[in-house]
Amino acid sequence: ATHKIAVLPGDGIGPEITKVALQVLEAAGKSHGEQFEVKESLVGGAAIDATGQPLPEETLAACRASDAVLLAAIGGYKWDSLPSASRPEGGLLALRTGLNAFANLRPAVVLPQLADGSSLKREIVEGVDIMIVRELVGGIYFGQPRGFSTNDKGHKTGYNTMVYSEPEVERIAHVAFDAARKRRKRLCSVDKSNVLEVSQLWRQTVTRIGKEYPDIELTHMYVDNAAMQLLRNPKEFDTVVTGNLFGDILSDEASMLTGSLGMLPSASIPSEGPGIFEPVHGSAPDIAGQDLANPMAMVLSAAMMCRYGLSLPQVADDMEAAVTSALDQGFRTGDLMSDGMKQLSCSDMGQVLLKA
Ligand code: NAI
Ligand code: MG
Repeated sequence: ATHKIAVLPGDGIGPEITKVALQVLEAAGKSHGEQFEVKESLVGGAAIDATGQPLPEETLAACRASDAVLLAAIGGYKWDSLPSASRPEGGLLALRTGLNAFANLRPAVVLPQLADGSSLKREIVEGVDIMIVRELVGGIYFGQPRGFSTNDKGHKTGYNTMVYSEPEVERIAHVAFDAARKRRKRLCSVDKSNVLEVSQLWRQTVTRIGKEYPDIELTHMYVDNAAMQLLRNPKEFDTVVTGNLFGDILSDEASMLTGSLGMLPSASIPSEGPGIFEPVHGSAPDIAGQDLANPMAMVLSAAMMCRYGLSLPQVADDMEAAVTSALDQGFRTGDLMSDGMKQLSCSDMGQVLLKA
């Protein structure tokens, strides 16, 4: 079949890693009879320069008309002095909102070839394979009321509201159970229901939705314990589902288990319509245009797109296997270099991946 992909190369190293990912995607698809119709659009700084907007109307329209969005990275020194509302980063938020992408999926996988790059000991992290599913558009980051007030003694107060409704929890729970089903069939829901009413509703709702997934083993954990267990015994986790604030913190914590920003993909997906697939890293302006970037996070993002956005698990498997094979052969980009390894440019790594 033919799949329509909206590709947003963005800024900095974005275009370099996009080129590699599209080559590998095309090759992996071909061997399974799958084709990709690619339409590139502007986003971020590149879009500001051309149109004045970080997310032009025609880019959002192209994304809406696609089966999936593959985004590289946005931002750079050139736009850092713009007022925050009109900066490249605004394009990302507008895209997620525009596509209703409420579920953020962040895998933290420690490949044995890279386990020494982790902040923790090899015995603890080798074999870690976690998927954190974070609710992205609700919770305390968006809850009302919010703001500042001053009492009659003149003391200022700042406040936010952590709020989740049943439908909001139901839809993220469905995404998480579906993701667990594609993995090792274990889901851990993380909350703070010993203290927070919003978490009690969260736990009840996830438990109720879990009845529709009898093949998935559901457990619950308090967030403070989850933060500890991620460092003590990260291998105990398969799929994790949690709210916006807890997910923000735990996904960054989990990413440090892997110790390599250039290897981390992510997905932001809606209930219906195209999802957004992108590396966790930014546009790396310090190495942009020098053919030094690690394209693997972008290749793995395209693999996530195949698995979670297009239901092409075999194409995803092949792309992930290409990354493993390149590492097995001792090939590394500069960010992953260690003794005895062979250093490659971004484009040469692309050739190795293509061959694999
Ligand atoms: P960054 O992730 O771009 O870079 C952090 C460090 O990691 C840099 O030293 C960079 O060279 C290195 N690095 C990142 N990705 C790499 C790769 N694929 N291969 C090799 N090395 C890599 O984060 P930073 O420096 O904080 O932000 C730079 C720009 O990116 C800013 O404008 C920021 O707003 C933007 N940004 C964009 C994101 C996105 O598009 N989702 C996410 C994070 C930052
Ligand atoms: Mg964060």
